[in-house]
Amino acid sequence: MSYNTFGRMFRVTTWGESHGIALGCVVDGCPPGIEFTEKDIQFYLDKRKPGQSRYTTQRRELDQVRILSGVVPDGDEGGFITTGAPVSMLIENTDQRSKDYHNIAQQYRPGHADYVYDIKYGIRDHRGGGRSSARETAARVAAGALARKIVPSIVIRGAITAIGPYEIKRCRWDWDEVNRNPFFSPDTEAVQVFANYLDNIRKAGSSTGAVVEIVADNVPSGLGAPVYGKLDQDIASYLMSINAVKGVEIGEGFTAARLRGEENVDEMCLDRDQNPNFCSNHAGGILGGISTGQPIVARFAVKPTSSILIPRCSIDTEHREVDVVTYGRHDPCVGIRAVPVGEAMLACAIADHFLYHRGQTGRI
Ligand SMILES: Cc1cc2nc3c(=O)[nH]c(=O)nc-3n(C[C@H](O)[C@H](O)[C@H](O)COP(=O)(O)O)c2cc1C
Repeated sequence: MSYNTFGRMFRVTTWGESHGIALGCVVDGCPPGIEFTEKDIQFYLDKRKPGQSRYTTQRRELDQVRILSGVVPDGDEGGFITTGAPVSMLIENTDQRSKDYHNIAQQYRPGHADYVYDIKYGIRDHRGGGRSSARETAARVAAGALARKIVPSIVIRGAITAIGPYEIKRCRWDWDEVNRNPFFSPDTEAVQVFANYLDNIRKAGSSTGAVVEIVADNVPSGLGAPVYGKLDQDIASYLMSINAVKGVEIGEGFTAARLRGEENVDEMCLDRDQNPNFCSNHAGGILGGISTGQPIVARFAVKPTSSILIPRCSIDTEHREVDVVTYGRHDPCVGIRAVPVGEAMLACAIADHFLYHRGQTGRI
């Protein structure tokens, strides 16, 4: 299986399966001299960790990170400093329950990757979905936590903007609220609505989709390499690579198609200090594939979990028609835990372009 690496300068390779001994990442190209602690990485892994509320999978994983290479100790507080060598990070799997997947060893879950993995490789690790499981995204989150350290002052935050048919009200957006509720909702009033909806979904043995928005503040202008290494192109590719993501938009995205030119352009002016400024941000912080210095705003649509308790028609490995019911522990709305994963992927994309820009122009 190839293509387990992404990035040009900040190159991330992930490895490991859902029910293997461990999973992790190797970050090659991390500059020397980056200071961080295990806590800096753990903070984001804890955000993605399963089993934190009844609205996510009940698999209990500590997701404790171990830094294996590419660093030397820094100070007396357990900190590290990167040496420029590959940074390896490892997370053990401790709560696998492979017997739950016994019945799908010979059946293809509709909507999951089982069928195509068999077609492509002729062999499949059915235990927890193997490499197709979003357990792999823990490794991306670890890499993303390191990526955040590359770009000075950058702030990358994500939130849920819709679960199923229910949307947040943007006028009630409060970043402080996001980490106070189990949905990463920026709107306090939407929390109860999401909770009621998901309780019903769970009881029905069903699942639902969601929309996630990620915003990066304090992004330097000038990042992005036209014409085939555009920043928006890479962000879309990184976000689209997240399991269950079926659509990505930047700035106004699909709404831009319904706007008139004068509504969609971000007019420019000079601010009080005579510096160039934009009057709006329909572009989502990127023009011509290059960052403008405004916040980068990306959104992605996450499909409903395909492993559900409601029987769905499929076929087995002998090509007989079967009804598939997926037992085991699954997220009723995978979009919730996709929030920290989206943050990590945006961090990696921006860090990669930051290093590339510095290499080409010698600036920043
Ligand atoms: C954070 C996260 C958790 C996920 N958990 C589950 C899960 O518990 N059960 C499941 O069937 N799919 C889950 N998925 C989605 C599958 O990994 C994904 O649908 C599958 O790999 C097929 O890929 P595709 O949907 O991108 O085509 C999860 C996705 C994410 C992002």
